[in-house]
Amino acid sequence: MQHVVVTGASGWLGSRICAALERDGETVRRVVRQQGVAGEFGWDFGRSDALGPLVAFLRGSDTIIHCAARVHVGNDGDAAAKAHHAVNAAGTRQLVQAAREAGVQRFVFLSTIAVYHWDGLCRPATEDLIESGESAYAKSKRAAEQFVAESGLDWRIARLATVFGEGDIANFLRLARAIRRRRFFVPGDGDSRKSVVSIDRAVEIIRGLAAIPAPRHRLLNVGSPTRPTLREISDAFSDLCGFARVPSLGPVASRWLARLGDGLRTVGLPAPYDSATLTKLNTDTMVAVQRQQELFPDLQWGNFHDDLRRHRDYYLAST
Ligand SMILES: NC(=O)c1ccc[n+]([C@@H]2O[C@H](COP(=O)([O-])OP(=O)(O)OC[C@H]3O[C@@H](n4cnc5c(N)ncnc54)[C@H](OP(=O)(O)O)[C@@H]3O)[C@@H](O)[C@H]2O)c1
Repeated sequence: MQHVVVTGASGWLGSRICAALERDGETVRRVVRQQGVAGEFGWDFGRSDALGPLVAFLRGSDTIIHCAARVHVGNDGDAAAKAHHAVNAAGTRQLVQAAREAGVQRFVFLSTIAVYHWDGLCRPATEDLIESGESAYAKSKRAAEQFVAESGLDWRIARLATVFGEGDIANFLRLARAIRRRRFFVPGDGDSRKSVVSIDRAVEIIRGLAAIPAPRHRLLNVGSPTRPTLREISDAFSDLCGFARVPSLGPVASRWLARLGDGLRTVGLPAPYDSATLTKLNTDTMVAVQRQQELFPDLQWGNFHDDLRRHRDYYLAST
């Protein structure tokens, strides 16, 4: 790689990927929603503007790492579905088209394990599963994957597990805040398992995936082979950050609390727990990572507790 375009360069993963590439001596060209500093290129993936300026910007680059997405925001309602589709699906289609017109060959797309349909799945999800997740976000990322895979470009798609670590703005930060404020409980034994990946490892794999000349797998799940349970995750935060241990709530009490939350929501009141949250907490969201391990056999993986230790100070300072 010589000239790498990174979209969503102002975001969490995008900014980390840019920094890692620059440390390796690559020339990075940043696409951001709104141009800030000189050298950045402003492009809103939610609009269907004429592609000319984007094509002109992409010319001369050899790789695109597409991180920009509508993510970590509401999934409910028609407006959210439209917005997700516009930015994540239609926006990716535009970028694919512009890449082809500009002669950029390699296209790396950051997708998500949210594309899987977890309901009734009794094993870690493998990349060949075709039934899609229900959320507007999941559907928009699935659609985007298809545009990328049918692009005719030298494509690669990384379906990332939930990312944690320094710079986290959503997933585990919300959880850590709730634990610190004693507003979280573990339903039942908390034995649902979750695929996760630390930010440093995610960046390393994306960077590696972009650099492999002819990868044996073009579509792969990215996550730690050790998949912590919800109980292990909350205990790791309590232990490392000095938060009180999260209490367990039996299945019946959890369901009652969720129903109460549903009721509060129907009358427009805020509720931290509802049935959807409870289902999420109780569902295994595990992916198989054989393809990742084949492509990156030398990576050493620790358990969640050890990995979180490196990011402890960040969560302590941010909660
Ligand atoms: N974090 C995770 O756990 C996780 C897990 C699986 C997959 N992913 C994928 O990883 C990628 C990066 O996620 P992240 O966690 O780094 O999220 P993030 O910090 O919210 O970054 C998203 C980036 O997309 C940009 N963006 C959003 N809407 C845009 C639009 N209409 N036009 C142009 N740019 C737009 C944002 O720009 P602004 O700064 O202007 O908003 C931001 O730079 C996404 O594709 C996401 O689906 C993340």
